[in-house]
Amino acid sequence: MKLATTTMLIASTCLLLSGCGEEAKPGIDPKVYTDSLFAVMKADRTNYTKLIVQRLGPKGANAIFPVEHWKDVDNGAPLPAQMFRAGAEAVRDLTDEFTYSLQSEWPINKQNAPKTDMEAEGLKFISANPGENFYGEETLGDVTYFTAVYPDVAVAEACVSCHNEHKDTPKTDFKIGDVMGGVVIRVPL
Ligand code: HEC
Repeated sequence: MKLATTTMLIASTCLLLSGCGEEAKPGIDPKVYTDSLFAVMKADRTNYTKLIVQRLGPKGANAIFPVEHWKDVDNGAPLPAQMFRAGAEAVRDLTDEFTYSLQSEWPINKQNAPKTDMEAEGLKFISANPGENFYGEETLGDVTYFTAVYPDVAVAEACVSCHNEHKDTPKTDFKIGDVMGGVVIRVPL
């Protein structure tokens, strides 16, 4: 009886302190954190492609149109990947809590190729397992990171046609619904 009461007391104290033992860390589970960040990124990215990029044009005299070298053109608008990177760069200036990038095994821009072993493993995993995400931990320098890789899917015809026809693409047979690359989100632990 006494033992049972003591056990109950320990159990409820643990509950109050939200976890006993070495493993328990306060704060949000990194997977829930990166999943939530990705939901916002994906919504914005899909909306920009479907609501803006796909509706722009045909190119009139003054019409705004999406074009890779948009900065050199008065009426140019950034491509979805460039819009995404502008967000990632702005976030880098705002917080150290996480970083993110859009990458691919078949990049038009070589800078978007995977740079760490885990990024390469994650991109391979999401293209071999459509609909699944990849989660891992990697140590870079002396910091350990939670690294999540989410599929970036061809949601609109514009994704497929532009990539397949681009002069620098290493892959010319993307179809609607294909995994074209991945969003890498990295959180220091
Ligand atoms: C009008 C052309 C165009 C459209 C539309 C477009 N892309 Fe891209 N995409 C590019 C270019 C160009 C880059 C390289 C941009 C850079 O890094 O500066 C790129 C980059 C990417 C990357 C990073 C790897 C790489 O190829 O460099 C992924 C992944 C990607 N796009 C997927 C998509 C998806 C999915 C869509 C639709 C939601 C889409 N793209 C729409 C032209 C396009």
